Amino acid sequence: MIRVWRERIVFFLTTILLTILVISYEPVLIAEAQSSTPTPTPTAARSFPPVAYPNRSLSASPAQLPPLPYAYGALGKAIDAETMKLHHDAHHASYVNNLNDALKQYPDLQKRSVEALLVDLNSVPENIRAKVRNNGGGHLNHTIFWQLMSPEGGGQPSGAIAQEINQTFGSFDAFKKQFNAAGAARFGSGWVWLVRNPQNQLQIVTTANQDNPITDGLYPIMGNDLWEHAYYLKYRNRRAEYLNNWWNVVNWPQINRRNLSLGTLRER
Ligand SMILES: [Fe+2]
Repeated sequence: MIRVWRERIVFFLTTILLTILVISYEPVLIAEAQSSTPTPTPTAARSFPPVAYPNRSLSASPAQLPPLPYAYGALGKAIDAETMKLHHDAHHASYVNNLNDALKQYPDLQKRSVEALLVDLNSVPENIRAKVRNNGGGHLNHTIFWQLMSPEGGGQPSGAIAQEINQTFGSFDAFKKQFNAAGAARFGSGWVWLVRNPQNQLQIVTTANQDNPITDGLYPIMGNDLWEHAYYLKYRNRRAEYLNNWWNVVNWPQINRRNLSLGTLRER
């Protein structure tokens, strides 16, 4: 009789134990089943400064189209109103929409800045990597670009950037010549940039498509858009003429605000 009761007690306790185990694992299994698109862990915590603005980065939760800081026709010394309207309201807006569409299944990625996504593209799932690269880059590049121009722009550079351009390139004219030549030589669509490199020097580089220099470890101080959508309505195929006229609207005070030393960038 005692043996029978002992067996019943062992059976009862075993049943309770198994029930507890099943209940405790259930949430994990549900969580895994619901998360059909797991977000990879960042492969490396690469440091990056904010580059969209002089002092803050670009949010991806959700990405938003920033307003133009002037009227469509305000940059008439270089760019016509229709081009500006299409460029901002259609092209830039589509980069924003496409980036949000790419990230909609990935709430963890939305918590990162656009800069953080672009410096660590390998941590972005492969099925959306190209979309994030192209549209995150497009959003970042154009957000920078609108700030680099002003109706009161043009003329000679001022402040610290003027001195550093002279030291690095010999003169402003020599710098403009090199910048324009690099922009004219970039085949197809892309951007021409003045960047700060890891040696703390100014350097002119170009990138393809909507790539931003931060993906290559370079900090973009200023840049010009080489896509035909930036100039074709007014200049047709005359990219060199557009590049030359663009200097009439360059916002030197803003470029000075973006001209951060490597030491300052590392502190961020
Ligand atoms: Fe553009």
